[in-house]
Amino acid sequence: MSDQIIHKGLAGVVVDESAVSKVMPETNSLTYRGYAVEDLCDHKSFMDVAYLLVYGELPTPEQFEAFTNLEKAHRGLKDQVLNCLASLPPACHPMDALRTGVSILGCLDERIWDSSPETNMDKYMSLLAKIPCIIAAAYRNSIGKSYIPEDNTLGFCENFFHMCFGKVPAEEVIKAFDVSLILYAEHGFNASTFTTRVITSSGSDMHSAVTGGIGALKGPLHGGANEQVMHMLKEVGEAEHAESWMMEALEQKKKVMGFGHRVYKNGDSRVPTMKKYASKMAEFTGGKKWIEISDILEGVMMREKGIHPNLDYPAGPAYYMMGFEIEMFTPIFVMSRISGWAAHIMEQNADNKLIRPLSAYNGVGQREVK
Ligand code: COA
Repeated sequence: MSDQIIHKGLAGVVVDESAVSKVMPETNSLTYRGYAVEDLCDHKSFMDVAYLLVYGELPTPEQFEAFTNLEKAHRGLKDQVLNCLASLPPACHPMDALRTGVSILGCLDERIWDSSPETNMDKYMSLLAKIPCIIAAAYRNSIGKSYIPEDNTLGFCENFFHMCFGKVPAEEVIKAFDVSLILYAEHGFNASTFTTRVITSSGSDMHSAVTGGIGALKGPLHGGANEQVMHMLKEVGEAEHAESWMMEALEQKKKVMGFGHRVYKNGDSRVPTMKKYASKMAEFTGGKKWIEISDILEGVMMREKGIHPNLDYPAGPAYYMMGFEIEMFTPIFVMSRISGWAAHIMEQNADNKLIRPLSAYNGVGQREVK
C-alpha cells in the first residue's frame, strides 16, 4: 500500500485550465464559450457551435456562410480511403472503421507534422467534413450497399442522412439530430478529450489525437453507452417488463448503461433538452414504447439508487427512432465531438506542457538477476 494519495481515475483532479466549456454540477448546467447549451439548442445550429468552439465567438452571418462553404468544400473521400474502408470486413464496427478512416486521412495529409494554428484549423475543417463521409461509407459497406457521394446543395445534417440512406428526412428529424450534435459537441476534460490533449501534449498531430480520441470514446463507460442504452431498451422489450428488469439488474449489481456521471451527481445538464427531442421523435415516428420503457427504468433507478440518467440515455433511443442502426450511434457522437476535440487540441498546442503524471509503485521490491 502506498502512503501517497492516489487519485484513482483522476477523479476530482484539476489538471489544467480551459476556456472551451464550463461544466457546473452544482447547478446542473453547461456553457460553451459562455453560452448555455439550452440557449444554443433553441437559437443556433450545430454549425454555429462547430464554429463557436474553435473560434471562441459565434459567427456573423458572413462568417457562417464562409464556414459552411468551407465545410462543403472539404466533403468527399479519395478512392484510397474508400478502397481501404471497403476492404474491412462487413462486421467491422463503424466506430473501428471510423478510427481507421481518420488514421488514413492523417497518412494522406502532407502537412502531418504542421500543427500551426492555421494548418490545424484547416485540418479541423477537413475532419469535420470527412468524418460523416467515413461513417456513411462504413455504414453502406456494412449493409452491402454502394457509397453515396456527398450533395453540396445540402446542409451538414441533411447531407449525412442523404449519404447514409439516399434521402433526407422531415425537418423535425433534422432539428432533433442537429440538437443532439450540439449537446454532444463538448464537455470539458472527459476521457476522450483528455486523450486528445495527452496525445497533443507530446507534440503529435491532430489526426493522431483524434484517432486516439475515437478509441477512448468507443468504450461503454464513455460514448459507447448510447449504443448500450438501446440494446438494453430492446432487451427489456415492453413497458410491463421494465420495472422487474431494472430491479433484477440492481440486485445483480450491474452497471446500467446511460445512468450515472463522473461529474454530475444530481442530473446531467443536457438530459432535459435531449429528452424533449426524443419525445418529439417518438410522436413523429410512432416509437412511444421506447419512451415509456425509458421512463419506467429511470423512475426505478431514481427510487432505488437516486442515480440520474446521462445524455446517452435519451440520445440512444432518439437515434434509433431517426432510423439509425445501433452501431451508428457512437460514430455520430464523433461527428459532433470533433469540434470540442479540435478546440482542446488547439488550446493544448497554444500553451503546451507534456502531460506526464506519476504512479505509485506497488510491485515486488528490487531484486537481483541470478
Ligand atoms: N448503474 C448502476 N450503478 C451505478 C451506475 C450505473 N450506471 N453508475 C454509478 N453507479 C453506482 C456505482 O455502482 C457506485 O455504487 P457503490 O458506491 O455502491 O459502489 C456509485 O454509483 C458510484 O459510481 P462510480 O462508478 O464510482 O462512479 P464513477 O464516477 O466512477 O462512474 C460512470 C461514472 C459514468 C463511469 C458510471 O456512472 C457508469 O459506469 N455509468 C454507466 C455508463 C454510462 O452511461 N456512461 C456514459 C457516461 S456520460
